[in-house]
Amino acid sequence: DSLPLRYFNIKAPFGALFLYLCFAVMQKQFPIGVFDSGYGGLTILKEFVARMPEYDFIYLGDNARAPYGNRSFETVYEYTLECVQQLFDMGCRLVILACNTASAKALRTIQQHDLPAIDSQRRVLGVIRPTSEVVGRLTATNQVGIFATSGTVNSGSYEIELEKFFPHIKVFQEACPMWVPMVEYNEFDKPGADYFIQQHINRLLNKSDEIDTIILGCTHYPLLLPKIKQYLPPHIKVIAQGEIVTDSLMDYLQRHPEMDNMCSKNKSLSFFTTDSTAIFDEHAAIFFGQEVHSVHIHI
Ligand code: DGL
Repeated sequence: DSLPLRYFNIKAPFGALFLYLCFAVMQKQFPIGVFDSGYGGLTILKEFVARMPEYDFIYLGDNARAPYGNRSFETVYEYTLECVQQLFDMGCRLVILACNTASAKALRTIQQHDLPAIDSQRRVLGVIRPTSEVVGRLTATNQVGIFATSGTVNSGSYEIELEKFFPHIKVFQEACPMWVPMVEYNEFDKPGADYFIQQHINRLLNKSDEIDTIILGCTHYPLLLPKIKQYLPPHIKVIAQGEIVTDSLMDYLQRHPEMDNMCSKNKSLSFFTTDSTAIFDEHAAIFFGQEVHSVHIHI
């Protein structure tokens, strides 16, 4: 296959898709890139596609190197930058880091240091800020819990962002290092998952009995929602990020018509993984809610 054909292989026949890409390049319009360490970002992409069905998206999961959650700042930054660069090479002008860990550990450096050198017209946005912006509306007790990876918790990103918007809110964080592997390895709805879910819920609620809102600060966690709800007192609201991040992206595109004009709108979806496509397609269908055909990419 020629390089473009290998890149953009989904649903449409190759020839038609290749022509579409040539057309997109001529029109200077490009898909929006969505990145995650693995499958989690698909919970965000699913909401993008439901609410912005006309837009084109390219999803890249760095499954070969997931999970990122326990990796160092340097490693998460290095991997994330490589994946962002890959999405830029595929034509994306706008990339969403649909991953809290990457948003926590790599976003700021990419925005401040790398983008000006790569191309100051391109944009990379994350998921922590949009989530933090809405939390104040959701809590009555002003005590908010966060479940996230160790990387996100240790970065302090939620505390920093929430402090900017709602300094009166108290944040209680709980790192759940087993939750991403449980999801990545398809154990999220099995009985073994119950132990780790209960364990972290108990630890978080022991930090404060006034928490009334909990943010799922990792895009993998929505798959655990049925079990999380089972073990949480019913008065506590649990917030997944898909809807919030979609609201934020739609608002961004409305405020930046120059970027919106560069986004192609042909209802095209492409999926890339750095690991096995067979495994990706099987798991991704669970996260995304429909059949997925991915293409392998080496980074
Ligand atoms: N989906 C990523 C997040 O939102 C998971 C991180 C991981 O790879 O550990 O943090």
